[in-house]
Amino acid sequence: MASGGLSFVVVATLVIVSAGLMPPPAVAELATDYYASTCPNLEVIVRSSVKQSMAQSPISAPAALRLFFHDCAVRGCDASIMIVNSDGDDEWRNSDNQSLKPEGFQTILDAKAAVDSDPQCRYKVSCADIMAVAARESVYQSGGPYYEVELGRYDGRVSTRDGVVLPHANFDLDQLTAFFSSLGFTQAEMVALSGAHTIGAADCPFFQYRIGSDATMDPGLASQLNGTCSSDPNAFAFLDPSPVAFDNALYRNLQGGKGLLGSDQVLYSDPRSRGTVDYYASNQGAFFADFVAAMAKLGRVGVKTPATGGEIRRDCRFPN
Ligand code: HEM
Ligand SMILES: *[C@@H]1O[C@H](CO)[C@@H](O)[C@H](O)[C@H]1NC(C)=O
Ligand SMILES: *[C@@H]1O[C@H](CO)[C@@H](O)[C@H](O)[C@H]1NC(C)=O
Repeated sequence: MASGGLSFVVVATLVIVSAGLMPPPAVAELATDYYASTCPNLEVIVRSSVKQSMAQSPISAPAALRLFFHDCAVRGCDASIMIVNSDGDDEWRNSDNQSLKPEGFQTILDAKAAVDSDPQCRYKVSCADIMAVAARESVYQSGGPYYEVELGRYDGRVSTRDGVVLPHANFDLDQLTAFFSSLGFTQAEMVALSGAHTIGAADCPFFQYRIGSDATMDPGLASQLNGTCSSDPNAFAFLDPSPVAFDNALYRNLQGGKGLLGSDQVLYSDPRSRGTVDYYASNQGAFFADFVAAMAKLGRVGVKTPATGGEIRRDCRFPN
């Protein structure tokens, strides 16, 4: 009886609070069913568009997944990475663009065109949300986990070169941890997110400097990469041996010194994060579960609302 009375008081208080005595929440409220009435076919449309992009190029999925990270890490998940400013002062042309591939941008533009070709959805879905769903499809259609994507982001209007701060492939564990901590991630979450490198490739400049000088690199891999990069300066190598399959092979690779990027290999060579790498290497289900949770968290970084300058962009390349 006493506890029943107490919970009544709590419920009554919550009702009064939500009835308007408190200011609206400062952060955007995301929901998986955000477009249920305005664009009920959103997921189906983006799924089939991403499928087509992936059929056209094996780079589409990894490039679209990476694009989502680079968008969210700079000014929040607001599709600012997609903006093309006429004066060239924008995020994607920053020297820190670290070779974002055109296929990633194209995957998003094609998905946006597909969404807007549905009369019900036309101009109602933000580019930021399309990027989030396309990132999930890139993971899922590569054999990775399926997860519900929270939606309701608005697109930003600002993109500048100077705003870009991103982690580099030669970062040590402390630098990586500090960067991800600034976005609200723990070290374990960072190790899970780095598992995105289970798909895709890297250009020689991102790992060539390690050949022959980084003792944590397996000698067999070093000589193989030496061959790849010395014969062709524009060459690339796959981030893991199954570059189109989203799996936990990356972590098993790291245990053998076969990580391509220094920022991945250091997660194993530094004893402070090695346990997490070992855990994911032996348990793909745990990796998938933690990756999904970290991606949801990534998708909440710096989300905009109309009150904070957000809009639904008509063309992902230009603010309205
Ligand atoms: C931990 C810090 C990270 C660093 C230092 C880093 C760095 C890099 C570098 C240097 C490349 C190669 C780029 C190229 O040559 O085209 C790359 C590729 C990639 N990154 Fe990361 N990254 C990090 C975290 C992430 C995260 C959190 C994600 C997504 C959740 C991600 C997704 C990808 C993907 C999918 C590729 C392959 C892209 C392609 O094949 O076009 N990365 N990353
Ligand atoms: C990325 O930056 C480099 C160095 O500034 C530049 O040469 C390259 O063209 C840029 N890439 C894109 C896609 O703009
Ligand atoms: C890389 O290859 C060149 C010749 O192609 C060779 O001289 C050099 O020693 C090799 N370096 C390593 C670390 O294998």
